[in-house]
Amino acid sequence: MPVSPPLTLDAIRSTLATQALGRRIELFQRTASTNRETFSLAQSDAEHGTVVVAEEQTEGRGRLARTWFSPPAVNLYCSILVRRSIPSDRLTSWLSWLPLMTALAAAKAVETIAGIMVAVKWPNDLLIGERKVGGILCQSGTSPQLGSFQIIGIGINVNADRSKFPPDIRDSATTIAHETGHTIDRTQLLSRLLLELEQCLDELALTNYDRIALAYRAKCVTLGKIVRASLADGTEFTGLAQTIGSDGSLHIAQWPIPSGGSPPQTRQLYAADIVHLRPSQTGR
Ligand code: BTN
Repeated sequence: MPVSPPLTLDAIRSTLATQALGRRIELFQRTASTNRETFSLAQSDAEHGTVVVAEEQTEGRGRLARTWFSPPAVNLYCSILVRRSIPSDRLTSWLSWLPLMTALAAAKAVETIAGIMVAVKWPNDLLIGERKVGGILCQSGTSPQLGSFQIIGIGINVNADRSKFPPDIRDSATTIAHETGHTIDRTQLLSRLLLELEQCLDELALTNYDRIALAYRAKCVTLGKIVRASLADGTEFTGLAQTIGSDGSLHIAQWPIPSGGSPPQTRQLYAADIVHLRPSQTGR
């Protein structure tokens, strides 16, 4: 497969069609983590829409304190600084929809640029088939002059060689190039991603979440599956994923259904590590 051309500021700027996202772009050949870089820029009062991109991360961070495999010159690692003043009565739901909406935007960008279907696993994993191709890590903070901010970190496995993935993720992860059979232009993908994200952010700030919730439910392959949820307190819960609440939570009903006629317990999850169980694991 042909090599992936390097990312350059000129190429990114010349394809970008956004208003605010990417007004300032910092491109690193190598950094510990684009989220970490963006965090320090935010604390120095960098403006809304600042984007940090890296060709390589040495300490890329994933959800649930995991690392994010970030080899050089093949994938997309970027973080976006978001400053939005959201009325206090909407803040909690805005914050819970932010990562879910980002997953939708990223899925749409990959579909448009690579011409391949991408699904979302709750809350914000991007999947091709059942394999993970991207993930999102949102963080919040406060800066001295401009107040609170959010950082949206996005990692997408674009052109990496899947056979060189670390053994622990080799089976469960994939790359766009592996799935499509061709090298993807990372500049086009980044520009499209920022455009989709900007449109979703504008929508999320102005309207209620009905359309986004509808679009998210349609893309979320977790729904209808039997899942094992590992919760932050170390407990696990196995259940049928029934719906996504209007606040972005995942509603699951205990599985197997208890014998003896008592109704299954239901849970509303706001954060958890979810595994989609195969039919052979569920007795279904
Ligand atoms: C996940 O665990 O699914 C989330 C992965 C998020 C990885 C991205 S890569 C760019 C940004 N910088 C980081 O250190 N992490 C996020």
